[in-house]
Amino acid sequence: MDRQIWIADFGSQYTQLITRRSRELGFSCEMLTVEEIKQRIEAGKYPKALVLSGGPNSIFDDDSDYSYLFKKDDLPILGICYGMQLIGDHFKGTVEEGEKGEYGKTEITFTSDFKIDDCPNSISAWMSHSDHITKLPQGFKTIIKSANNFIVGVKHVTLPILGLQFHPEVEHTQNGALILQHFYKEMAGLTADWSSQTMLQEAMEEVSKVANHKVLCAFSGGVDSLVSAALAHRVLRNNLHCFFVDNGLLRPQDYFHIEELKAETNLQIEIIDAKEIFLNNLKGVSDPEKKRKIIGKTFIDVFESKVHEYQQKFNIKFEYLLQGTLYTDVIESKSPHKKDGKSVVIKSHHNVGGLPEKMNLKLIEPLNLLFKDEVRALGLELSINKKWLFRHPFPGPGLGIRILGKIKSASITKVQQSDQILFEELKHFDVYDKVWQAFTVLLPVKTVGVKGDARAYEEVICLRIVNSSDGMTATWSDLPRDFFNKVSSRITNEVAGVTRVVYDITQKPPGTIEWE
Ligand code: XMP
Repeated sequence: MDRQIWIADFGSQYTQLITRRSRELGFSCEMLTVEEIKQRIEAGKYPKALVLSGGPNSIFDDDSDYSYLFKKDDLPILGICYGMQLIGDHFKGTVEEGEKGEYGKTEITFTSDFKIDDCPNSISAWMSHSDHITKLPQGFKTIIKSANNFIVGVKHVTLPILGLQFHPEVEHTQNGALILQHFYKEMAGLTADWSSQTMLQEAMEEVSKVANHKVLCAFSGGVDSLVSAALAHRVLRNNLHCFFVDNGLLRPQDYFHIEELKAETNLQIEIIDAKEIFLNNLKGVSDPEKKRKIIGKTFIDVFESKVHEYQQKFNIKFEYLLQGTLYTDVIESKSPHKKDGKSVVIKSHHNVGGLPEKMNLKLIEPLNLLFKDEVRALGLELSINKKWLFRHPFPGPGLGIRILGKIKSASITKVQQSDQILFEELKHFDVYDKVWQAFTVLLPVKTVGVKGDARAYEEVICLRIVNSSDGMTATWSDLPRDFFNKVSSRITNEVAGVTRVVYDITQKPPGTIEWE
């Protein structure tokens, strides 16, 4: 399906958000590099509406010719921040380098002849730029002004072109979605064309291309692999095989989850017990990067030998690898600053990176046009159990990166037991769904404590609980005191060899979510 809206990425940290908001409003859209847009326009192709994103540059530092963006008179264009300045520059207004920029929240007011249904005339909006339009571009009128009297919104008098100095896509802008909707519906005349059903239909079409082939899925049981497998199964049926590798670095909840999936879905899931192989390969290794590499390589080796076994034993030769790559992975790997758009390297999932080349498998990625929340919506459309769709993320290397230093069976048990306690109490206090991720980390230090009447000299468990919207940034979660008391007292009482529980109060950045 052709996308109605193209979003030209000039490198703003918010461009992805424009895409998400537009889809939330029900409009199909895609994010493209400026070079991709240029090529399409030169080939005579146009969207129904074009959005020019913000960007970190100043138009004074960029002498590229963007006139091709404005060649088609009736093409509705929305320019946001940097995009508005491009409009200003193209239509011969004056853009000046601001001495006093406007950053963060700013009050803005609509002029009397600009009205959006259900939106007040004065709102708080998010700005992050210092350049601004000082003289109106030709054919434009001012529709929004800031408290400092800057021109922060312009509209062409006859053409469907809108420029906004602030970011309507950012949550801090009140009624930002209404402003976007106004542009799409009233100015561009678009009708909604994006829904869970259209997503499902597209993803099914993608999988249908490989119907009648043997397809393998590296199945972790996480949301992305579950939704892609459930979707693919609708078309492939018995041609889809899911391999779940038990690396021995899983939590009790993961074993329960996979057994539940085996019992309650019609997916063919083979659990490969590779606990010993992983533990042996990791013996004596304490460097985090080495651990990650060993876990990744062992995964590939185990997988490869299983694929070989299938060919020998059952004469099943896999041709495709089903992967739950998301749109975020695809667009994050495009560099907006490289206008040649050639820097596209698809980010491989940690676990399966290297698999397709090594085993000569072609990739099938039915979710690679979707965001995480859309994948969940698709999962609901496929009638996948809600509790499976809203699990916290769990990294490929598993507990291997939550046991600091060397990994021993006894340390795995400590993290498994403490993690299970944390999980149970998150559910018990009804806070599981309020946090992005929550887990325990075993610190390789001993501290003194008292257990019973005796002195104890044992290890430390750290609780890491964070809120985040995408894992890129995170804040530590402020949960009830009773919850922490319960978790701490259960861990020190029930987990042998642990005398102390601490809470990690580090934001990301600078701290990452995982400890290794
Ligand atoms: P960090 O630790 O980088 O984590 O702040 C951000 C998010 O990514 C997850 N994570 C991984 N996921 N393979 C994965 O599949 C990995 O190697 C990996 N490392 C970190 C982490 O759990 C968090 O959600």
